[in-house]
Amino acid sequence: MPIEIESPEQMGYDTIKCNLTESSVRDFHFSDLNININDLMICYGDHVGNPALRNLIAKEKEGIEKEDILLTIGAAGALFILQTAILSSSDHIIVMRPNYGTNIETPKAIGCEITFIDLCFDRGFKPNFDEIKAKIKPNTKLISITTPHNPTGVSLSIEELQFFIQLAEQHQIHLLVDETYSEIPIGKTPLPVAASLSKWAISICSLSKSYGLPGIRLGWLINKDKGLMEKLLAGKEQIYICNSIVDEEIAYQAMCKKDSILSLVRKNLEINFAILNKWMLEEKNLQFVMPDGGVVVFPKMNMDIDENKFYEVLNKKYATYVGPGHWFEMDRKFFRLGFGWPTAPELQEGLENISKALEEARI
Ligand SMILES: Cc1ncc(COP(=O)(O)O)c(C=O)c1O
Repeated sequence: MPIEIESPEQMGYDTIKCNLTESSVRDFHFSDLNININDLMICYGDHVGNPALRNLIAKEKEGIEKEDILLTIGAAGALFILQTAILSSSDHIIVMRPNYGTNIETPKAIGCEITFIDLCFDRGFKPNFDEIKAKIKPNTKLISITTPHNPTGVSLSIEELQFFIQLAEQHQIHLLVDETYSEIPIGKTPLPVAASLSKWAISICSLSKSYGLPGIRLGWLINKDKGLMEKLLAGKEQIYICNSIVDEEIAYQAMCKKDSILSLVRKNLEINFAILNKWMLEEKNLQFVMPDGGVVVFPKMNMDIDENKFYEVLNKKYATYVGPGHWFEMDRKFFRLGFGWPTAPELQEGLENISKALEEARI
């Protein structure tokens, strides 16, 4: 997959007026959170992760205790640890595509045989469940799914999640569930933490996407199999021993205010989603699968268009950015539109600019 040279943090945020590339909510400032770390001793931390923080993460998650949680450097760190700890080049894995890069690139780098669950627009970006069972082989070690999904914004139902859980249990295969967007469903209640449903399931999450705290690089994985957790801890220790104690303390103090952070995040998302929804109903040059979780939607151009010109006009003339399909090894007629990061006026302007650029690039 292309390296992230086109991401806003690499290009420089000051070059972008309407940033609709992001796959997270708006980032918080320290001053918003009233955090004080003056008394913190800068020692190594608990290798598993700050126990008080793990307690807070476990709280409200039915069937999950702090012992089931390993803190990692972001969800990206959790994905890397899990896959490098359990996979070898003779293993087979089944993974959703498109997907967040690490979910595909790490097993590729390990040399695993990979079977993709391709999420197609015409099937509403849902897996073809009839085909999945037949894809399991004797050396299948891991099934890797993401819900709510990036870049499509589509979620699995509880029955669909149960389908994967049963499959994993029946074949004794690990099930990785990337739940990075689980706290921000759209118009529905979040699914249960997959790891609470089976010891074969590993849930992965972080404070990056739903909490607006990606800069502290704090994620976790959850699993109820003690043997596997020991292996994953050993993997973590090999890479970075423990998390940054500074990040953990900031995360702990932020999580103490979890309810107020999430209610603010959800309120802003509701406003932005209403703006997006109105525009989606009016914009006939694009086709949409309605997102039902997270902060992104993955529209498809529904017209004869010069895609290169579209992105050029959008970027250069309107200083507006989206995530072109090639970021996800998809056709450039698709793009990811992030509606959770911009302010409401930025989103409104960005959407209008997309509509103008589509017309200007029409063939
Ligand atoms: C589905 C998904 N998983 C994991 C990550 C990694 O996030 P982080 O390492 O910031 O928690 C991302 C980031 O875009 C993502 O979209």
